[in-house]
Amino acid sequence: MTADLSRAALETGEVLVVERLGGGLLELVARLPHLAATATPGAFAQLRCGQTTTPLLRRPFSLAWTQDDTCGFVFEAVGAGTRLLSQLQPGDPLDVLGPLGHGFSIVDGGSVVCVSGGLGCAPFPLLINELHRRGVEDILVLNGARTATRLYPAERFARRAVAVVAEATDDGTRGHHGPVTDLLHQALRSRPSALYACGPNAMVGAVMRNLLESGAELPQTLEASLEAPMGCGFGTCLGCALPVLGDDGVSVWRLCCTDGPVMPMRDVDWDALGALPGADVA
Ligand SMILES: Cc1cc2nc3c(=O)[nH]c(=O)nc-3n(C[C@H](O)[C@H](O)[C@H](O)COP(=O)(O)OP(=O)(O)OC[C@H]3O[C@@H](n4cnc5c(N)ncnc54)[C@H](O)[C@@H]3O)c2cc1C
Ligand code: FES
Repeated sequence: MTADLSRAALETGEVLVVERLGGGLLELVARLPHLAATATPGAFAQLRCGQTTTPLLRRPFSLAWTQDDTCGFVFEAVGAGTRLLSQLQPGDPLDVLGPLGHGFSIVDGGSVVCVSGGLGCAPFPLLINELHRRGVEDILVLNGARTATRLYPAERFARRAVAVVAEATDDGTRGHHGPVTDLLHQALRSRPSALYACGPNAMVGAVMRNLLESGAELPQTLEASLEAPMGCGFGTCLGCALPVLGDDGVSVWRLCCTDGPVMPMRDVDWDALGALPGADVA
């Protein structure tokens, strides 16, 4: 499956608010009618971070949620682009290209588990809302972060839906003391029809390893939103290739921006992915 780029458009919206959530997490809300009307769960948008050519390239961000003609993004200031985004003020223009990417498959029933690590929380409110709209009532979010202040607030995962949120922190300041993967075993007891994961690639790889080692029956739908350095966001620069196992078990390259960012977890070559360098872009 590749992304349907026919809905993607350039749009200049207006920043409504940049809210500081604590622990460095920010939620940016902007009026972006086209993006709000066309984005599906797991989609991302390429945001232009400033009015000059530095940084030159747009930066990819998951659509966290949409409501009426507004869109929400969750991020942290980690470099030049996100620092500029964090300084935006209400009324400032926001130039986006989107929606982009191939998103999550939406199941119609049963129970669902969402595993979020750090800023991997970003695509889940939109996904949970859509699952709820399709009649899925049993939604469990496993939300992990380094420390309590860096946990995306539980009530924001389910904006117009209902979800149970179980938390884990590396330092034990809230919820389970340890990695979020420790919560998987218990979560699998409900025999979920789908498990969706998002977080640093290493964390998502650990989720897959834990699932395989648990010996439990794996959910039929097993998908993760992956990250890669992105230039264009629509399949031309080839900068975002990720290793995926072909039918013969040999690794082939697939583009995170058009074949993903959401990919079946069974298809990813986790060993090869773990060996890739980090995501430094211009
Ligand atoms: C499909 C997709 C969706 C994303 N959604 C979100 C989101 O919702 N919220 C969010 O905070 N971040 C998200 N990211 C990561 C985000 O794009 C990067 O954090 C951002 O591009 C950094 O830009 P910068 O100029 O601030 O930092 P840079 O100066 O470019 O880099 C600073 C640090 O960020 C890392 N980084 C840069 N690009 C990426 C990347 N593409 N993926 C992971 N790490 C990167 C670099 O390795 C470096 O350590 C997403 C990435 C992808 C590929
Ligand atoms: S970001 Fe350019 S090909 Fe994927």
